[in-house]
Parts: sequence; C-alpha cells; structure tokens
Amino acid sequence: MKTRITELFGIKYPIICGGMLWVTDAKLCAAISEAGGLGCITADQHTSGEGLRAAIKEVKALTDKPFGVNITLMPSFRITEEVFDDFFKVCAEEKVTNIEVSGMFATKYIPMLHEAGVKICHKVGAVRHAAKIERLGYDAVIVAGVEEGGHPLNDNVATSVLLPKVAETVKIPIIATGGMVDGKSMAAALCLGADGILMATRFMASDECWIHDNIKSWICELNEMDTELFCSSILQARGVKNAVVAEVNELEKGGKENMSAIVRATSGKRLLAALESGDRDGAAFLLGQSIGRIHEVKSVKDIIEDTVAICKETLQAKAAIC
Ligand SMILES: Cc1cc2nc3c(=O)[nH]c(=O)nc-3n(C[C@H](O)[C@H](O)[C@H](O)COP(=O)(O)O)c2cc1C
Repeated sequence: MKTRITELFGIKYPIICGGMLWVTDAKLCAAISEAGGLGCITADQHTSGEGLRAAIKEVKALTDKPFGVNITLMPSFRITEEVFDDFFKVCAEEKVTNIEVSGMFATKYIPMLHEAGVKICHKVGAVRHAAKIERLGYDAVIVAGVEEGGHPLNDNVATSVLLPKVAETVKIPIIATGGMVDGKSMAAALCLGADGILMATRFMASDECWIHDNIKSWICELNEMDTELFCSSILQARGVKNAVVAEVNELEKGGKENMSAIVRATSGKRLLAALESGDRDGAAFLLGQSIGRIHEVKSVKDIIEDTVAICKETLQAKAAIC
C-alpha cells in the first residue's frame, strides 16, 4: 500500500495507533511498528522530559521501525508548561518519526521539529481547525469524528461527514479516526478522502496490550450503544456507560461547584488502577463506538494484516461495480 501517509512516515501500511494515556506503552508501540503500522507512546503519563526520553529509548530497544509520540497539550495539574517544552525538545533530540498533538496548537514547536526532521500532526474535530493547522505548517491532519474514544470535539460531527469536508478543504495528508476498526472502515475512509487511518480502541483488544483481560473481554462483549458522551461542560469525552460515568453526569448537573469532584472521578490515576485491576466500574473508560465491531482479542500483527487484506478486498470488489 502506498499513500501520502506511508510516504510521510516511511511505513508499510497507512495504519497509525492513536495515543492512549497509560495504555500505549513501549511494547504495544513496538508491536504496531514491527507489524508495518506506526506505533505510538504517550508523553503525558510522564512528569518530565527525561521520563519520556527513557520511554522512547525503551521503544528503540524493541524496534528500529518508525514510531510516534502523542502529546496532549492541555492545561494540567501534573504537567507544567516547562515540562511540555521538554517533551517537544526530547522528541526533536531523539528524532522520533512523528508527534501526534491533541488540544492546544503546538505552533511554537514546529520549526524546531522540522529542523530535526520530525513530523507533526494535530487531531481535529472541525473543518475550521483542519484549515488552521494547515496554515500553521503541520505535516498532516488527523480528522476525528464524534464516534472516537477519548475527547471528541463538542461539535459532534460524524467521521462520514467531517472527513470528506476536510478533504475538500486542505491539501496536506489526512488521517481518519473515529470508528476505524477494520478493513471495511479503512476502505470507506480512503474513499472519503483519507490517506490513512488511526485506530486506538481496536488496539486495546490485542495480545500485546498490557491491560487486564477483564477489560479486553469487556470490549469484545460491548456493543455500539454502550458508550456515551459525558463531561461536555468541561472537556467532552466518550466513554463506556458505567457507574463512574453516571456519577460524573450527576455531578455535572451541579455545575462548576462540582468541578473538583469531577476531576477526581475522571483522574488518570483512577483509570490506571482500573486498567490494572480489571474493575469495570473502577474508572471512566474512554472507548469509541468502534467497540460494537470488535469481537475478539487478536495479535497486533493479525489486526493490521487482516485490516489491510479486507481493505484491499473491499476496494477491489467495489471497483468491480463500475
Ligand atoms: C483509552 C483511551 C485513551 C485515550 N487517551 C488519549 C490521550 O491521552 N490523548 C489523545 O490525544 N487521545 C487519546 N485517546 C483518543 C485516541 O488517540 C483516538 O483519537 C481515538 O480513540 C480514536 O477513535 P477509536 O477509539 O474509535 O479508535 C484515547 C482513547 C482511548 C480509547
């Protein structure tokens, strides 16, 4: 497969793993890169640039293939502006292939990254933001529909509408996310104007992902109606309907006064503990609607190769219509 995304990153298949706080560790990242995609680790689980550098070195010990780093650039209690500066500096020094940014624009870091040969993409949920990141000089845009796990923009536009609109607006390469789970969704995304896809939820249900088996089997049991948007008054998220998400919904009704209780309920530490213990009601689990199409835990290699095979088969079969 050859697209602008395989060319940009020097990878075999235009399949990228999205950053997932605590989930995307060195082992999962390396497995995805070894299988021909672009693996990813998450900067924000570290509290210093040196912590991130150690994680980058861990990936480099496992693979010599390209991989990326997600930096979620948002006001944080744990991460100061200086630490964010260090994250970008370390990525430039270590010459990682790509940085996937979400949240605030990373404008001031772009010249340094380009000088080091590092690519930079931004995840957006609106056409106006895609146009802006093109103007700012990013190398590619990640178009995230409201189906995605994580933090979809509260414009709430689906991938099927957002993606072709962005493709009609920008000239830089496009990566589609939100509902991307297999070869059929990949074929659809390519037809709608994408040069590659980004999956996150799908890679959680993989042999190489470290999270508790009770969470992996849950992902295979859940269906597409089992997630909801929550926390929309502060930072919208999509997660599985469980006790913690219900608690957050109740707290939100109380307005800003409940802010600190909401922050406690959705804390990253709580998520980490639940991912380790397998407690399905232990945290707000960010998962995409794509759970409705995930039925088995597979190796990363099988996920990627099956996706590519079905994508090719689907595109060829549909071409025959004409
Ligand atoms: C468990 C989980 C954690 C996530 N954490 C982050 C994060 O820290 N930063 C970020 O930019 N996106 C995060 N995301 C969003 C993903 O990178 C990606 O945009 C989204 O999940 C893609 O849609 P999908 O879930 O349908 O594959 C997370 C998603 C999940 C499922």
